[in-house]
Amino acid sequence: MRARVTAHKDYIISDIDPRLYGSFIEHLGRAVYSGIYEPGHATADDNGFRQDVIDLVRELDVPVVRYPGGNFVSAYNWEDGIGPKENRPTRLDLAWHTSESNEVGIHEFADWAAKAGTEMMLAVNLGSRGLDEARAFLEYVNHPGGSYWSDLRKQNGRDEPWNVKLWCLGNEMDGPWQIGQKTAAEYGRVAFETAKAMRAFDKSIELVVCGSSTPNMVTYPEWEYTVLDYTYDSVDYISLHMYFDNHEGNTRNFLAKAVQLDTYIETISSVIKTIKAKKRSKKDVYISFDEWNVWYHSAEQDKAILQGHEGWPHAPGLLEDIYDFADVLQVGLILNTFIRRSDVVKVGCLAQLVNVIAPIMTVKGGPAWRQTTYYPYLLASQYGRGTALNLAVECEGYDTDFASNVSYLDVAGVLTEKDGALTFFLVNRHESEAIEVALSLEGFSQSSIVMDKVIGGYALDAVNGPDGETVGMVDGSGATIAEGTLRADMPPLSYRMIRVG
Ligand code: AHR
Repeated sequence: MRARVTAHKDYIISDIDPRLYGSFIEHLGRAVYSGIYEPGHATADDNGFRQDVIDLVRELDVPVVRYPGGNFVSAYNWEDGIGPKENRPTRLDLAWHTSESNEVGIHEFADWAAKAGTEMMLAVNLGSRGLDEARAFLEYVNHPGGSYWSDLRKQNGRDEPWNVKLWCLGNEMDGPWQIGQKTAAEYGRVAFETAKAMRAFDKSIELVVCGSSTPNMVTYPEWEYTVLDYTYDSVDYISLHMYFDNHEGNTRNFLAKAVQLDTYIETISSVIKTIKAKKRSKKDVYISFDEWNVWYHSAEQDKAILQGHEGWPHAPGLLEDIYDFADVLQVGLILNTFIRRSDVVKVGCLAQLVNVIAPIMTVKGGPAWRQTTYYPYLLASQYGRGTALNLAVECEGYDTDFASNVSYLDVAGVLTEKDGALTFFLVNRHESEAIEVALSLEGFSQSSIVMDKVIGGYALDAVNGPDGETVGMVDGSGATIAEGTLRADMPPLSYRMIRVG
């Protein structure tokens, strides 16, 4: 099969916000305890943080990490995690039916984030609590001193404020599973008043209001309409979440699901525009896609949560999906969709970062290791920052239960900021046919291939593990560039990143 792609210097989509490649750490399962934090581990630093995990996070160059939840935040008291560790209470976490020791709180997470080279994106609890807790937490985190909460922070050992910019107004408040679930109108009012109080403290923070937790919610997309109607002029982003599964074992359908993601973004983008017109507002609201990933391999393990564990275990293994090669393609397709929609999606958080539906896994007392999906995330994060190109793609497509004419070739292009190279991320969705790609570079002077990485040739169910990697990336071969046309073959079911400098 052949595909023609055209990139033109004057046809661009948007500057990509680097925070598109963010991630997420929740107090859930082993994300924090025996994930990022394990005092006594051979690589642990003086604060108990695993250096092997920090090294991998730094390699991924994660720009921002959302914390502390997730569902967890909706019954969390942030004050439980400050002050001397020996005085911190153990609480029952209602979201995941576990015990929370509070050994890690805001001070520890902030130290970890600084060491991992990432920014914090914090969520406030609008489930069991509300405005008052949110304003206190903001003052504790961002006020220089001379007030009750900021002086308490100093007393607890941190002199300077952390100046966190991005704040989530709760989490998935539409979900019946959420502690303190609200109707859209109830949430819209609370979010508006909380935003008002937080902005009264600091106008320059960026606020994220909850959208639907999936497009399958019965309240979608009316939820977004109502919530934005209450909050439009007070917030900067609306949060969307989406997880992908292949329960039916149908690869063609699975690999077409990024089309549903695109439709989701398009729909909410239209709702944003509708409310903007209704309000006669000059201001724009963007999308913070602050939870996304493949999530279904751990379904059996997760049933324990729904059925209730025996007791209230501390940091049990939960949501520990082991990703396969098919998921590499899916994560690549999702990231390509975000690049193409970078005009409206400004923040993205791969959910999550360590142990819980994560690219990085750890063995308690043992090594940290890279899942298959680590690699497409690594390449996009490292080379997908800059300006998104508006590519024209001509390729045969296929129909699925929910989408028509899904192109076998998926491609996103970026004029990469750090070195001026053109970076193309390509996925061949076809199960048996290779695609000969001819990519015409119009108006560009870049003329040689400077990097070519391929992930392909594996069984769809191939996985990595603590003892070694089956799936990784290798140097591609055979790509050429002549007279302004890049030519490369995409083997069946493959992911490739080619950079032209
Ligand atoms: O990321 C796992 C969970 O998925 C989060 O806690 C929640 O927000 C979502 O439903």
